[in-house]
Amino acid sequence: CNNSFKLVLSNKKFNCRNIMSTLEVCTVSTKPYNDQKPGTSGLRKRVKVFQQENYTHNFIQAILDSMPAPGAKGSTLVVGGDGRYYSKEAIEIIIRVAAGNKVSKLIIGQNGILSTPAASNLIRVLKADGGILLTASHNPGGPDNDFGIKFNVNNGGPAPENITNLIYEKSKDIKQVFLCEFPEIDLSTIGERQFNGFTIKIVDSVRDYVTLLKEIFDFELIKNFFAKNPDYTVLFDGMHGVTGPYSEKIFIEELGLSQSSVQNCIPLPDFGGGHPDPNLTYAHDLVKRVEKENIKFGAASDGDGDRNMIYGKSAFVNPSDSVAIIAAHSEVIPYFKRTGIKGLARSMPTSAAIDLVAKNKGVEIFEVPTGWKFFGNLLDAGRLSICGEESFGTGSDHIREKDGLWAIIAWLNIIAAVNEKKPGVGIKEILLNHYETYGRNFFTRYDYEEVDNDNAKKVIVHLHHLIGEGKNEFIGKTFGQFIVSKADDFEYCDPIDGSVSKNQGIRIVFTDNSRIIIRLSGTGSQGATIRLYIEKYSKNPSDYELDNQIALKPLIEVALEITKLQEFTGREKPTVIT
Ligand code: G6P
Ligand code: ZN
Repeated sequence: CNNSFKLVLSNKKFNCRNIMSTLEVCTVSTKPYNDQKPGTSGLRKRVKVFQQENYTHNFIQAILDSMPAPGAKGSTLVVGGDGRYYSKEAIEIIIRVAAGNKVSKLIIGQNGILSTPAASNLIRVLKADGGILLTASHNPGGPDNDFGIKFNVNNGGPAPENITNLIYEKSKDIKQVFLCEFPEIDLSTIGERQFNGFTIKIVDSVRDYVTLLKEIFDFELIKNFFAKNPDYTVLFDGMHGVTGPYSEKIFIEELGLSQSSVQNCIPLPDFGGGHPDPNLTYAHDLVKRVEKENIKFGAASDGDGDRNMIYGKSAFVNPSDSVAIIAAHSEVIPYFKRTGIKGLARSMPTSAAIDLVAKNKGVEIFEVPTGWKFFGNLLDAGRLSICGEESFGTGSDHIREKDGLWAIIAWLNIIAAVNEKKPGVGIKEILLNHYETYGRNFFTRYDYEEVDNDNAKKVIVHLHHLIGEGKNEFIGKTFGQFIVSKADDFEYCDPIDGSVSKNQGIRIVFTDNSRIIIRLSGTGSQGATIRLYIEKYSKNPSDYELDNQIALKPLIEVALEITKLQEFTGREKPTVIT
């Protein structure tokens, strides 16, 4: 059997007789790879890396070996993803390795499709033991681009660091993969198939998720608002990612909008050659149409459906503001009417706009490292209701992932509710009203992508040296109009399990609470991505309509001076500005 399976793994056709009826497990020897360390959000690499001999098998085996007690044997796992290139091959491998490890049931989205939020929901609704999500989120897809595999645990959220570290350790040590051979499984037909103690269930990718959103939001109110205000035009851009089928169901079937309210809603394995990331650079098509056609409400979601961008005419909603605004208006959302707001949270680099809302509401606010997994414990403990990140992620305790369509429908629910009392209020008015009450946290992020790893390290070493871990004369130093009041490398102690995460981003805070933050991205797949985050607060109403880049210019200059980014990277300009 061993020999035979070597044949399969080297991709030669192999007919494993008798195995189907008995589900005989074969042990295949394998050699470890040393680069299977999950990043901020799972393992993301070029497709070609996953296609190396046994590479994907090894990683799946390492995941199954790292599952919390009682382990993979007898477990139920949800499987699906954004449908990017190599998904089908990966699902076939998962089926074989799962059966080989005596997993009892795989629940697979039809055609392998599940948005990340829908997968998180299914894990919870079906009380599965976890899930394997096949996505590299907003990274481009196709044979020369990225693929990704992420393990989620039984709360529906990304595996915490103790598990992802274990996966990495196991992957470095792996000697064997256990698998069973299968004929090609038809992923397109909904239904259940039994294979001698191993069940494969193909489920509708969309249904349960839409049911969930309908329980959370006031769909009637939104639908009536559109019916009464035919001029309130909407454009949702699926960026050829996974949200296409979900958005058609929600915007067209449920909310009664016309087909022209959605674009790029056919999921494609290479996202139509685009970069499925909803930001001002990559969702430029949407931005252009909103401006040109005077569309009132523009929105986009990323490859796997967990990110969102909200964009109205001349009114880009910064994600840091978005989560604060949703929290501030949460009482119009039926779900939060029922549950109340237990607490709010943001990732460290996200602006403090939501902190002001928490203060106003008298609820706890948490600041966690970058990465949705860090919200998980707080959500599970019932201490957190709404949370978000500057990286276009917004969500709540309804699932354990950020949720693009949830955020978009939340905005529509808020707009419909506000218009009940005061007609004619759109995105821009909501932003300005928010600033009137809370002041404005100007925020921008500069990304330097595919920087040489050594050069990126030099920037960090330089900054560590400069801040001297907060001990030296750097505190009190003046740069332009800014005086340094605090400098450190962010360290987080999880309030629920006490686990500590160090080196989560260098922060330089000034006496007026302005901040510059710098960290290396954990999601890139090529070279290093340096992120520079810049935030400044104003309570001066004459500032509120200023452009971010103009309001932040003096602080951006200081940030570039302190970090010496241009000098170390040789880059005149960032790759992307948000
Ligand atoms: C993913 C994660 C987010 C994270 C973002 C940026 O979307 O789910 O939690 O904020 O990536 O991470 P990075 O490490 O690239 O800054
Ligand atoms: Zn994503």
